Parts: sequence; C-alpha cells; structure tokens
Amino acid sequence: MGLCLIAGPRGCPSRASVPCPVPVSHPGPPQSLHSSAPQRDNIRLAEVIGALTYALDLTEGQRPGHTLRTTVIAMRLADAVGLDEDTREALYFAALLKDSGCSSNAARMAALFGSDDQDLKRNMRLVDWHDSFRLAMRTARSCGVGLNPVARVRHFLAVARTPQLTREIIHTRCERGAQIAQVLGFPQVTSDAIMYVDEHWCGVGHPFGLSGDQIPLLSRILLLAQTVEAYWSEHGTRGALEMAQARRGTWFDPSLVDLLQQWRHDDAWWASIADGDHLDEAVVALEPSTTPLVATDERLDRISFAFAAVIDAKTPFTARHSTNVARYAVGIVSAMGQSQVDAREILRAGLLHDIGKLGVSNRILDKPGKLTDEEFAQIRKHPQWTQNILDHVGAFRHFAPDAARHHERLDGRGYPWKISAEHLSYTARVLAVADVYEALTADRPYRAGLAVNTVVDIMARDRGTAFDASIFDAAVALAESGTFLELSQVTEAGFEALQTIVPATPLRAVA
Ligand SMILES: [Fe+2]
Ligand SMILES: [Fe+2]
Repeated sequence: MGLCLIAGPRGCPSRASVPCPVPVSHPGPPQSLHSSAPQRDNIRLAEVIGALTYALDLTEGQRPGHTLRTTVIAMRLADAVGLDEDTREALYFAALLKDSGCSSNAARMAALFGSDDQDLKRNMRLVDWHDSFRLAMRTARSCGVGLNPVARVRHFLAVARTPQLTREIIHTRCERGAQIAQVLGFPQVTSDAIMYVDEHWCGVGHPFGLSGDQIPLLSRILLLAQTVEAYWSEHGTRGALEMAQARRGTWFDPSLVDLLQQWRHDDAWWASIADGDHLDEAVVALEPSTTPLVATDERLDRISFAFAAVIDAKTPFTARHSTNVARYAVGIVSAMGQSQVDAREILRAGLLHDIGKLGVSNRILDKPGKLTDEEFAQIRKHPQWTQNILDHVGAFRHFAPDAARHHERLDGRGYPWKISAEHLSYTARVLAVADVYEALTADRPYRAGLAVNTVVDIMARDRGTAFDASIFDAAVALAESGTFLELSQVTEAGFEALQTIVPATPLRAVA
C-alpha cells in the first residue's frame, strides 16, 4: 500500500483507488459515494466554505447564519468604502473564515470560566469590554454557571486575577484563524484581516493593542460587521445601530460607523439578511471576483484537512484524532482492495466524521469526572450534528450519512440512531473501526495510548457485534504490522503546523 493515498492534499491522487484482489463478504460501498457525488467543476469554493460556517457558528454559540450575515454586512461596507475587487475578495473570504480559530481556545475558556464555552462566547461578544463595571458584572454572571456559589466565586477570581489570559486566549484564536486562511491558500491580506479582528480603534483591543490606522482596514470592517450582526440577532436593527454609535471611536472606526448609520432606514435590506432560506445563495452571489474560485479536488481536500484541524483543536484529548481516523480508514480500504470505494471520499468522510463535536460544550467534552445522563445525551448528539452540517455542504452531502454513523454498531446497540447491520454502509463500518482504534491508541493527558495488542484484545470482544469482522481483521493486520503507526506519522507541511496548536489545559477526559 502506498502512502500517497493518505498523504493529504499535495500527495493525494485524483480519484485514487486500488486493485481488488481480496473477495469481500460485507456490503459494498453506499450508492451515494458513486451515484450522487456532485460534479466538481460546478462547485464554488465560496459555497463550500459558506456552508461549513454553520459549524463555526455552533462553536461560537452564535445563531445559525451568523458568519454569513456578517459577510453580507461586511461586503456592503466594502462597497461603501469603495474597495477594489481583489481587496473585496480578500475581505469576503476573511469574513467567512473569521471564526475558524474558534475551537482552539474553547477548552481554556470553559476551564477558566467553569461554564459552557458556547454560552460564554456568545455573552462575551455582547458585552462592552471598555466598560469595566458591565464587564465585571457580565463575567460574574458567566462564571461557574450551574455550580455552587463558592465555585462560582473561585472561577470569577481566577478570571479577574489573570487578565493576561484573556489576551492569550484571543491571540490563540486569531492566530489560528489566520493560519487556517493561509493554509487554505488565501493571501496574506486575508490572514491579516482575521489576525487583527479583535483590535479596537482606541487601542485597548486584543491581542496587540493596535489603534486607529494601525489596524488593517479589513479587520476594522470585520469587527464592526460581526458585532453588528451579534447585536442585530439579539436586539434587532435599532439595538445594533445604537450599539455601533455608542462604540464609535472606541471599538470602531468612526468613518465606518457613519457609513453604517446611512442604512438606518433601509428596511428592505435589513429584512433581507433575516431571510434564512436564501442566505446561503445570497452570500455565494456576493463573491466579488468575476471569475469565482472553484472547489477543485485539491481545494476540497485542503478544506477537509483544515476543518479536521478545527475539530481536533476543540479539546486537548483529540489532537490528531480526525486526521488519524481518516488515514486509518484509507489504509483499511486500500488493504482490503476495495477498488469501488473512492479513497478520496473516505478520506474526507474520516476527516469530518466528528465535525458535530464542535456543537458540544467543552465543559462536557473535557469534564474530569463522571458524566451525567444529560451530559451523555449531549455528547450523543454529535453524529446528528455531523449529519446536519455535512448535509449543508453540496460537495460533501453524499457521504454525510456514512460519516455520521461512526458510532453505530452492527447489532443495533450503537448511537444515536441504533441503526443495525443492513443499514450500515461499508464506509460507515470502516470509520467505526478506525474511530475506536484511534481513540484507544492515542495518547491522552491522563494516560499514554494503549498498546496495540491491548487495543486489539479490547476491540476483539466486539468483532461481529459492533465491528464488521472482515474490516476488523484487516485493521488488526495493519495495526500489528505497524502500518497504522506509519500512517499516523505522515507529515504534511502547513497542516502539521495546524495540528500542533492544541489547547494546553491538562484536564482528564471522560472515557
Ligand atoms: Fe464521534
Ligand atoms: Fe471520532
């Protein structure tokens, strides 16, 4: 088996497949992998990234469509300012990717504040940080939600005593988002727009405390656009415009606020951004370039790897989980000689199988103790969210069910749908084996990865009940020959850098 099949964007061959020397007794790949895969040259990059922004909204605790509405607002500001086409394109993709670093600080925020990171992020985006009293009140209300009073006070004091942590947390998030834009191939001006999005006009923003014209214009536009959207969602147009006016010259570039205020009576336009049914198409139509970027196979691979990095950065316990699952899955398919399975599709399904975890709070994902029934119920929702998110992405919709069913078992005792063997595709079965193998062999902050023979013994108990026997046997052969280890060590410039930036909080995961 050649490593080229799992090497990622640069090494991944087009429509890779291998000969099929081994007869198989399990169901073939799902029809969807072949019959409904979309035509590549019809898909626009903006459409794919735009659809995936719903996952970023979930992580940020924002209403669905937050990023898309922010993009609409930002592009109207760009028109009003009179930006040229190249700069508008840079802004357009910066707006879509502005929250791509969002998962990288979720674990630290949840641990520091002792609360759900999504609630926290939503609340903190609404508070005026320049108002110390209101900030303290909002912070106090946001600390240790659901905990006893002593614990709440302890979390509040931890936040109050470590103001530099806020700067670090924002720095991590901005840097990560800028890096993802760069890895996806966008120009420096796009990365910079994301890097400086939390700098405030008056100089008390984060992470560098830049002020006025020191802040890139695109970052100033993005800050205003995303804050207006957050307020518009909570308080309507009037509330958003009042907020912008109140922060004119402190948070925001005064000239941009003045442009925004000219839309005060444009009721039709404000109503248009509330039209969720046509938001996706409206944003795609706003792409500035006369030659829109097309989602080539290489770009779709890059996006899949980038979002795998976003998913894996969510908790300190999954530093390389998604990429390794994808690599192991491709290894299994290749070893089994499944020529009818598209290696590229299974790679992407593996990379994105846990994208629904972006919707689960780190307070639960990283909880050091036993989970409550309610917390387990939250975790068990993530495959449904994976399905929902991938259903949104035309280029990935055809493998959404296969990616989402990785916790189902042949005997119907898996979750969340309790689907049994006859409804589990070959791809879903491969991902189920790769997922558990990766989870058990990976290092955790509280334990080293389990030895291969130990993992094989543990998983063998479920051979034929949870796991497809022939897929399991193929995986064991790859594990015992050291091939999985070799696959996990494949390096990818750029993507490797993304994978090394993980939350550092040494919490203990729940088994
Ligand atoms: Fe999962
Ligand atoms: Fe997983």
